[in-house]
Amino acid sequence: RKGKSPEEVVKKYLQKVRSPPEEDCTICMETLGGPSGYKGPGVAGVARAESVGRLSRCGHQYHLQCLVAMYNNGNRDGSLQCPTCKTIYGVKTGNQPPGKMEYHVIPHSLPGHPDCRTIRIIYTIPPGIQGPEHPNPGKPFTARGFPRHCYLPDSEKGRKVLRLLLVAWDRRLLFSVGTSSTTGESDTVIWNEVHHKTEFGSNLTGHGYPDPGHLDNVLEELRAQGITEEDSIDQ
Ligand code: APR
Ligand code: ZN
Repeated sequence: RKGKSPEEVVKKYLQKVRSPPEEDCTICMETLGGPSGYKGPGVAGVARAESVGRLSRCGHQYHLQCLVAMYNNGNRDGSLQCPTCKTIYGVKTGNQPPGKMEYHVIPHSLPGHPDCRTIRIIYTIPPGIQGPEHPNPGKPFTARGFPRHCYLPDSEKGRKVLRLLLVAWDRRLLFSVGTSSTTGESDTVIWNEVHHKTEFGSNLTGHGYPDPGHLDNVLEELRAQGITEEDSIDQ
């Protein structure tokens, strides 16, 4: 994707709208019938302020300049997510810091899964310096509680979740840098919207997930990041 300008990336996912509807652009809150209300940098020379586009799959409409501004404020990975319905265009990636993901099977059964062994995932992320994709570039970030251990049943569904988590890890979507809602600490590594079971047989933190719906919830959270079974086939 290198070499494509933000405008070219955004336009790839858009159809041109010739007569915009009498609705507001939900990015700038100005009418789609008039110019974009975005006043910041990065959109000078991008089409006309009046240009409006329709996202090709979900159909939501925005000023072209507003979409380009939104793209510029993200991690510019060639993908775009509709701010209204979260439909993902292209391949979404995140800002997870460098580290490693390992897993192995341990000869114990998780509560609720007496007939199979257990997959233990170990995430290791060291502290470091924030990059341009993080909230405070150039500033250090801390990394608490690593290595973090997580558990999946070694069942068909558990192995499917593992395959998708490996894709999510490669796309840097499992962790982020920000403020921990558990500890309140800022500039630290935090989980990013995919809930892992981090306790084997207890539920002291509320992340023991003894409930049988946990794996389906994780699959749903992965889908929201644009990751489905098709993604793991060509991995
Ligand atoms: N296990 C699994 N998920 C968790 C945990 C945990 N122990 N704690 C929080 N989450 C989930 C939250 O429900 C939320 O959706 O991660 C998301 C981000 O929560 P934060 O509290 O901001 O994340 P983080 O700081 O990474 O919290 C993890 O557990 O391992 C310890 O030292 C670590 O105190 C930290 C906490
Ligand atoms: Zn707008």
